[in-house]
Amino acid sequence: ASHAGTESTDSGVLEELFRKSLFLPEQASSIAKDVDHLHYAIITAALVMAALIFGFAAYCLIRFRRRSETDVTRKVQGTLGWELLFVGVPLTTFLVWFYIGYHDFIRMQTPPPGAMDVYVVGKQWMWKFTYPEGPNSIGVLRVPVGKPVRLLLTSRDVIHSFYVPAFRIKQDAIPGAYTQTWFEVTKPGSYRVMCAEYCGLKHSEMWAEVVALSEADWDAWMKEQREGRVALRDASPSGPEREEPGIPARRVARYDAQEPHGEVMYGERGTLPERGERVAAERGCLRCHTVDGTAHIGPTWLDLYGRQERLTNGETVVADEAYLTESMMKPQDRLVEGYEPVMPSYQGQLEAAEVAALLEYIKTLRSARLENTRSEGP
Ligand code: CUA
Repeated sequence: ASHAGTESTDSGVLEELFRKSLFLPEQASSIAKDVDHLHYAIITAALVMAALIFGFAAYCLIRFRRRSETDVTRKVQGTLGWELLFVGVPLTTFLVWFYIGYHDFIRMQTPPPGAMDVYVVGKQWMWKFTYPEGPNSIGVLRVPVGKPVRLLLTSRDVIHSFYVPAFRIKQDAIPGAYTQTWFEVTKPGSYRVMCAEYCGLKHSEMWAEVVALSEADWDAWMKEQREGRVALRDASPSGPEREEPGIPARRVARYDAQEPHGEVMYGERGTLPERGERVAAERGCLRCHTVDGTAHIGPTWLDLYGRQERLTNGETVVADEAYLTESMMKPQDRLVEGYEPVMPSYQGQLEAAEVAALLEYIKTLRSARLENTRSEGP
């Protein structure tokens, strides 16, 4: 949807001109304005500083130029005031600049509590999105306007970078690890996603789209996805669902063959937690990990997500998506205290979709306990 002409006030027009003349893209996220303000603050500070320095240099060149053959430069001493000024002004400027940058950085790095999670997988040369509720999509990420969305990113092959100019966010997607970023879209529309890390032949075509929907449109779309999933499951009760967890190989092959910017939706394989439960059983996770709180070879998954764990190296770590993924890929690196180092690495063994499914399954095991204690009451 186009929004041209919606801002007709004078200040709106001026802002529009100012923005366009400095070639900054549209602002469509809650942090975009702050990022741009910092950008303008840095440019302004740099220009003012440069003008002062060059101006003062030019003044000195003219005012203190050599006027005759016998001219001798005057010896200058005891200029503490000037020295304080010359050190103090730039230092204060840079400290203010640093503070604004630090403040914005922390805000950009901290997703608000209650943000909606979406898993993002980059691969040569496309972006794939998976919602915990089950829907998958290639090339198109649908999100509601006005709600914070947290992206959990990984890659199937090389390092990519998820870049949405209109949101002012850019985050690397790294194979075998999860990184995160977040945004909140401020107006409905369609926004271009680019890959910002050179990743091979079609790097420049590794595009996707974020489609921001109004709350009503979003609810309708999610409902459609849920109904579609139920319909597909009813149509083939023993269908392909049981074959293998995550994405079946033939589907992946089909994605490769087709136009990468098209959208493919399917949801018959259930929600991520449902898939995760199957992955856990089929991959043997449950031989060492329990889900009911009982101690076994590895830490129990009950109430594991978000728990503070003490490591053998003395550090403590919060078991979030990043640490849980690290535990699957490099289990010996940062071991939880009190357990034998017997877990094998699943690097290259688990598909990104399977890791996402396991994470979402483990996350549900947190609320399951609370529900159990509630229903076990007298
Ligand atoms: Cu992916 Cu560049």
